[in-house]
Amino acid sequence: MSVGENIPHDSAVSHATGKSVFIDDRPEVHGEVFVGIVTSSVAHGKIKKIDMKEALHHPDVLGIFRGRDFHKNTWGTIVEEQPLLADPIVSYMDEPILLIAVNDRKSLSTVRKLIKIDIEEIPSIFTIDEAVAAQKFIHAANPFVQGNVEENLKRSPHRLKGVFECGGQEHFYLENQASVAYPLENGQLEIHSSSQHPTETQHLVAHALGLRYCDVVSIVKRLGGGFGGKESQAAPFAAYAALVASKLRRPARCVLSKDEDMKITGKRHPFKIHYEIGFDDAGLLIALRVQLYSDGGAYTDLSPSILERAMFHLDGAYYIPNIEIKAAACRTNNHSNTAFRGFGAPQGNMVIESIMEDIAVYLKKDSFSVRRANCYGIKERNVTPYGQWVENNQLPFLFDELYKISAYEKRSQEIKDFNLEYSGKVRGISMTATKFGIAFTARFLNQANALVNVHADGTVQVSTGATEMGQGVNTKLAQIVADTFGISTELVRVMPTSTEKNHNTSPTAASSGADLNGAAVLEAATKIKQRLLSLGTTLSWTDVVKKAYFERISLGEYAHFKTPGLDFDKEIGKGRAFNYFTMGTAVTEVEIDEYTGQSKVLRVDILMDLGRSINPGIDRGQVIGAFAQAMGWVTTEKLVYDKARHLLSHSPTTYKIPSLQDTPPILNVSFIENHTNTVNVHASKAVGEPPFVLGLSVWTAIKRAIGVRFAGKVIPLQSPATGEQILGLFKKMSKET
Ligand code: MTE
Ligand code: HPA
Ligand code: MOS
Repeated sequence: MSVGENIPHDSAVSHATGKSVFIDDRPEVHGEVFVGIVTSSVAHGKIKKIDMKEALHHPDVLGIFRGRDFHKNTWGTIVEEQPLLADPIVSYMDEPILLIAVNDRKSLSTVRKLIKIDIEEIPSIFTIDEAVAAQKFIHAANPFVQGNVEENLKRSPHRLKGVFECGGQEHFYLENQASVAYPLENGQLEIHSSSQHPTETQHLVAHALGLRYCDVVSIVKRLGGGFGGKESQAAPFAAYAALVASKLRRPARCVLSKDEDMKITGKRHPFKIHYEIGFDDAGLLIALRVQLYSDGGAYTDLSPSILERAMFHLDGAYYIPNIEIKAAACRTNNHSNTAFRGFGAPQGNMVIESIMEDIAVYLKKDSFSVRRANCYGIKERNVTPYGQWVENNQLPFLFDELYKISAYEKRSQEIKDFNLEYSGKVRGISMTATKFGIAFTARFLNQANALVNVHADGTVQVSTGATEMGQGVNTKLAQIVADTFGISTELVRVMPTSTEKNHNTSPTAASSGADLNGAAVLEAATKIKQRLLSLGTTLSWTDVVKKAYFERISLGEYAHFKTPGLDFDKEIGKGRAFNYFTMGTAVTEVEIDEYTGQSKVLRVDILMDLGRSINPGIDRGQVIGAFAQAMGWVTTEKLVYDKARHLLSHSPTTYKIPSLQDTPPILNVSFIENHTNTVNVHASKAVGEPPFVLGLSVWTAIKRAIGVRFAGKVIPLQSPATGEQILGLFKKMSKET
């Protein structure tokens, strides 16, 4: 037994003692060069002339490279359209244009000043509204339709129309984008990078340099955080290092500073949402019409899939009998937005949670009762807008149980009393839920392969396509193997991810790293176990392994896993998109200072169904981390740009992620017992992204609190709910009433 135990994270000690090796900790080898990036000074334009003569004379410069130096200068996970280096059109501010190879990275700032790039500006599009007006779209999704929206909106006793925007989010991983490329014999390359997707790195490097996949080995030991920001967007930086390494025949390292990383790389997609909802006197939803627009930025990247996941999660925990969801991703002259924990689900889910709060205010009801009444049912009212049934539905229980254990009713009364006594402060409470679909929505990505090698001394090495980014996938994989063999996890090492050992892997994303790779590992280990069992069961582990070796029985095994039963049809927008749902509820209580607009989270209670957790300690960390990250997204993490579209909030001093002081003083996290999720490895459930969605309760609680002073009025709150926005709303709404 080790599945289900709180085994510490396999890097816990080395992280805490600073001994973990990240990309830029790799010792510099003989002849190694550093690769610096020169970026665009305009958001949209045509490069007329690049003068690098003077720079090339600098004694520390070994070469300067342009887009045309690549064998192929375009890349893209879904659509191959993004230049590795803009040439000749630049499409966003700070887009990479040149690579400088230097002996010492300290020379870069001097060398950059010697380069003159002449760019003729082209008019830009920066906002979703401008893109919609100009009909500039990256992708328009096939709509999701259920029932008859038009007719049912008409017959609804109450209707609310609304528009709101939610902002982007910087990933703020601690390790910035980083790669080192080593040239090997016969033009082969070995790449080490901080990537969630080593296979994409391998493929892109091969395309960019005109190599075959078999000539590139891509290795990832670990990431200092990814959060989706290194799913697609790690690969170009590896291609930069690879280009320089292959041109100069020297090892080459490309590591971004925080400021560079924040300016160059894409972020969570901002969304603008238009909706109309119809409901009855009890607050029951009758019909919903929604149009989603996301800001995809300059290039396609993962925008179509992210938009689709937003559509899949618009319903949240609630049954909507008549619904029409239309969605389009806009093309703008912003950095190309990308995957970020939740992958569009938080943006989609925000629509319905916002509506729930609005209906409650409008009908002068508590929002819990409105949510509970609309919650997906067990036997009926349980079909999603895309036609998948909500099986194994724990939502009603999660709502009711958390209502009890968080003392919701009693606290609601206390909050009412507090708000009656005017103190310049106002409080709000709100419970929201998540029903997060687990599976890549691109069906082919739902596969994994694993290699398990048992050595003659009884120790085990495990290799899969999963990358360790702090989420603890290595620890879970080791537990699954140890559990299968009935040995301690101390005997199991999970090896660095390498395309040499695991081929054609999917990114570690969609929260399914442990699901997919865990299932493959379980199968490989089980095959070895079956061979060992044939030798008799009385021997100790080390003796049976030794015996197997001398009997010439294979102690290594490989397995491939694919998630069965997925059949979503994009054309008609119907089908089984997900293997199962991870569910949870959260109650947040906030306090707002009416004089400053500042909000404070006073208490959070979270209840989740993670099935039979493989490692409850690690899962707890994931829940708290995701919640805190979402709390930042909906409150203080505002991306600010100037007119020319320079990102002004490009460092920790100007971009405010939650700090220790923002930690809710009371934060209770519990899991329910559920052993019925037999469709996943060891009946566990994925945890990485679902609790991010629960952070929406901070935003809805703020909305609720502002509403206290304006009874019956729908609060037009946008996200993030910064102090500035809250104060502005108090002022504006006081004038109106
Ligand atoms: N946790 C840590 N510590 N660091 C990360 O970068 N990424 C999140 C989540 N938890 C992340 C994390 C995201 S976006 C995903 S999709 C999952 O982890 C990926 O890992 P998993 O599939 O193994 O859960
Ligand atoms: N989730 C996360 N990452 C992805 C997905 C998804 O559904 N599809 C492609 N990359
Ligand atoms: Mo996570 S956004 O699927 O990398």
